[in-house]
Amino acid sequence: MRVNVTVNGSAATVDDVWEGESLLYLLRERMGLPGSKNACEQGECGSCTVYLDGLPVCSCLVAAGQAEGRAVRTVEGLAGAGGLDPVQRAFVDAGAVQCGFCTPGLVVQTHDLIARVPAPDDAEIREALAGNLCRCTGYEKILDAVRLAAARRRGDA
Ligand code: FES
Ligand code: FES
Repeated sequence: MRVNVTVNGSAATVDDVWEGESLLYLLRERMGLPGSKNACEQGECGSCTVYLDGLPVCSCLVAAGQAEGRAVRTVEGLAGAGGLDPVQRAFVDAGAVQCGFCTPGLVVQTHDLIARVPAPDDAEIREALAGNLCRCTGYEKILDAVRLAAARRRGDA
Protein backbone atom coordinates (compact mmCIF):
# COMPACT_ATOMS: atom_id res chain seq x y z
CA MET A 1 0.00 0.00 0.00
CA ARG A 2 1.21 3.49 -0.79
CA VAL A 3 0.61 6.33 1.70
CA ASN A 4 0.84 9.99 0.79
CA VAL A 5 1.15 12.16 3.85
CA THR A 6 2.50 15.56 4.79
CA VAL A 7 4.81 15.32 7.78
CA ASN A 8 6.15 18.43 9.47
CA GLY A 9 5.28 20.47 6.40
CA SER A 10 6.90 18.20 3.82
CA ALA A 11 4.90 16.00 1.47
CA ALA A 12 6.03 12.38 1.47
CA THR A 13 5.10 9.18 -0.33
CA VAL A 14 5.79 5.91 1.44
CA ASP A 15 5.50 2.60 -0.40
CA ASP A 16 5.06 -0.97 0.80
CA VAL A 17 3.11 0.01 3.90
CA TRP A 18 1.31 -2.95 5.47
CA GLU A 19 -2.43 -2.45 6.00
CA GLY A 20 -2.13 -3.12 9.71
CA GLU A 21 0.79 -0.81 10.26
CA SER A 22 0.40 2.10 12.68
CA LEU A 23 1.16 5.72 11.99
CA LEU A 24 3.69 5.49 14.81
CA TYR A 25 5.56 2.71 12.98
CA LEU A 26 5.41 4.65 9.74
CA LEU A 27 6.94 7.71 11.39
CA ARG A 28 9.61 5.92 13.40
CA GLU A 29 10.63 3.03 11.21
CA ARG A 30 10.00 4.27 7.69
CA MET A 31 10.42 8.02 7.90
CA GLY A 32 13.32 8.35 10.33
CA LEU A 33 11.38 10.29 12.96
CA PRO A 34 12.04 8.53 16.28
CA GLY A 35 10.86 11.43 18.46
CA SER A 36 7.42 9.92 19.01
CA LYS A 37 7.95 7.04 21.42
CA ASN A 38 6.51 3.55 21.49
CA ALA A 39 5.96 2.76 25.16
CA CYS A 40 2.77 0.69 25.18
CA GLU A 41 1.42 0.49 21.63
CA GLN A 42 -2.14 0.28 22.94
CA GLY A 43 -3.25 3.82 23.57
CA GLU A 44 -2.49 3.83 27.30
CA CYS A 45 0.56 6.05 27.73
CA GLY A 46 0.44 8.98 25.31
CA SER A 47 4.17 8.75 24.50
CA CYS A 48 3.36 8.50 20.80
CA THR A 49 1.20 11.65 20.63
CA VAL A 50 1.39 13.63 17.38
CA TYR A 51 -0.85 16.15 15.71
CA LEU A 52 -3.04 14.72 12.95
CA ASP A 53 -4.72 17.52 11.01
CA GLY A 54 -4.12 19.76 14.01
CA LEU A 55 -5.52 17.47 16.69
CA PRO A 56 -3.38 15.44 19.12
CA VAL A 57 -3.77 11.67 18.64
CA CYS A 58 -2.04 8.55 19.86
CA SER A 59 -0.22 7.58 16.69
CA CYS A 60 -0.02 3.95 17.81
CA LEU A 61 -3.81 3.76 17.48
CA VAL A 62 -3.97 5.35 14.02
CA ALA A 63 -3.49 3.06 11.05
CA ALA A 64 -0.87 4.41 8.68
CA GLY A 65 -3.44 4.29 5.89
CA GLN A 66 -5.69 6.65 7.83
CA ALA A 67 -3.04 9.33 7.41
CA GLU A 68 -3.50 9.29 3.64
CA GLY A 69 -3.79 12.85 2.37
CA ARG A 70 -3.52 14.30 5.87
CA ALA A 71 -1.04 16.43 7.77
CA VAL A 72 1.02 15.09 10.65
CA ARG A 73 3.15 17.17 12.97
CA THR A 74 5.51 15.38 15.30
CA VAL A 75 7.58 16.61 18.21
CA GLU A 76 10.44 17.07 15.75
CA GLY A 77 8.24 19.46 13.80
CA LEU A 78 7.63 21.77 16.73
CA ALA A 79 11.16 23.13 16.80
CA GLY A 80 11.78 26.01 14.45
CA ALA A 81 14.80 27.50 12.73
CA GLY A 82 15.57 29.34 15.94
CA GLY A 83 15.85 26.14 17.97
CA LEU A 84 13.54 24.49 20.45
CA ASP A 85 9.87 25.33 20.61
CA PRO A 86 9.05 27.27 23.81
CA VAL A 87 7.25 24.22 25.21
CA GLN A 88 10.30 22.06 24.62
CA ARG A 89 12.47 24.73 26.25
CA ALA A 90 10.12 24.95 29.25
CA PHE A 91 10.34 21.18 29.84
CA VAL A 92 14.13 21.44 29.86
CA ASP A 93 14.21 24.55 32.04
CA ALA A 94 11.72 23.14 34.56
CA GLY A 95 13.67 19.89 34.91
CA ALA A 96 10.65 17.92 33.71
CA VAL A 97 12.67 15.41 31.69
CA GLN A 98 14.21 12.34 33.28
CA CYS A 99 14.33 9.26 31.06
CA GLY A 100 12.50 11.29 28.43
CA PHE A 101 10.27 8.52 27.17
CA CYS A 102 7.06 10.38 28.01
CA THR A 103 8.39 13.80 27.04
CA PRO A 104 7.55 13.96 23.31
CA GLY A 105 3.91 13.14 23.96
CA LEU A 106 3.70 15.56 26.87
CA VAL A 107 5.27 18.30 24.79
CA VAL A 108 2.78 17.86 21.95
CA GLN A 109 -0.15 17.68 24.35
CA THR A 110 1.05 20.78 26.21
CA HIS A 111 1.62 22.60 22.93
CA ASP A 112 -2.02 21.95 22.06
CA LEU A 113 -3.31 22.87 25.53
CA ILE A 114 -1.70 26.27 25.81
CA ALA A 115 -2.68 27.16 22.24
CA ARG A 116 -6.31 26.54 23.22
CA VAL A 117 -6.16 27.70 26.85
CA PRO A 118 -3.58 30.45 27.38
CA ALA A 119 -3.79 30.37 31.18
CA PRO A 120 -4.80 26.84 32.20
CA ASP A 121 -5.39 26.17 35.88
CA ASP A 122 -4.03 23.01 37.48
CA ALA A 123 -7.26 21.09 36.94
CA GLU A 124 -7.21 21.94 33.25
CA ILE A 125 -3.57 20.92 32.96
CA ARG A 126 -4.20 17.61 34.73
CA GLU A 127 -7.21 16.90 32.55
CA ALA A 128 -5.33 17.72 29.34
CA LEU A 129 -2.41 15.50 30.32
CA ALA A 130 -4.49 12.70 31.84
CA GLY A 131 -3.65 10.38 28.95
CA ASN A 132 0.10 10.93 29.23
CA LEU A 133 1.85 8.69 31.72
CA CYS A 134 5.26 9.33 33.28
CA ARG A 135 7.06 6.76 35.39
CA CYS A 136 9.87 9.00 36.53
CA THR A 137 9.04 12.53 37.56
CA GLY A 138 6.06 12.32 39.90
CA TYR A 139 4.42 14.88 37.62
CA GLU A 140 5.16 18.00 39.72
CA LYS A 141 7.94 19.19 37.44
CA ILE A 142 5.76 18.45 34.43
CA LEU A 143 3.09 20.73 35.91
CA ASP A 144 5.82 23.33 36.48
CA ALA A 145 6.86 23.00 32.84
CA VAL A 146 3.32 23.51 31.57
CA ARG A 147 2.82 26.54 33.83
CA LEU A 148 6.16 27.96 32.65
CA ALA A 149 5.38 27.36 28.97
CA ALA A 150 1.98 28.99 29.31
CA ALA A 151 3.38 31.98 31.21
CA ARG A 152 6.12 32.52 28.65
CA ARG A 153 3.60 32.25 25.80
CA ARG A 154 1.55 34.98 27.48
CA GLY A 155 4.66 37.06 28.06
CA ASP A 156 4.33 36.72 31.84
CA ALA A 157 7.67 34.99 32.45
S1 FES B 1 2.62 4.06 22.59
FE1 FES B 1 0.78 4.97 21.92
S2 FES B 1 -0.34 5.35 23.74
FE2 FES B 1 1.44 4.29 24.40
S1 FES C 1 10.59 11.11 32.29
FE1 FES C 1 10.66 8.93 32.27
S2 FES C 1 8.62 8.33 31.85
FE2 FES C 1 8.50 10.47 32.10
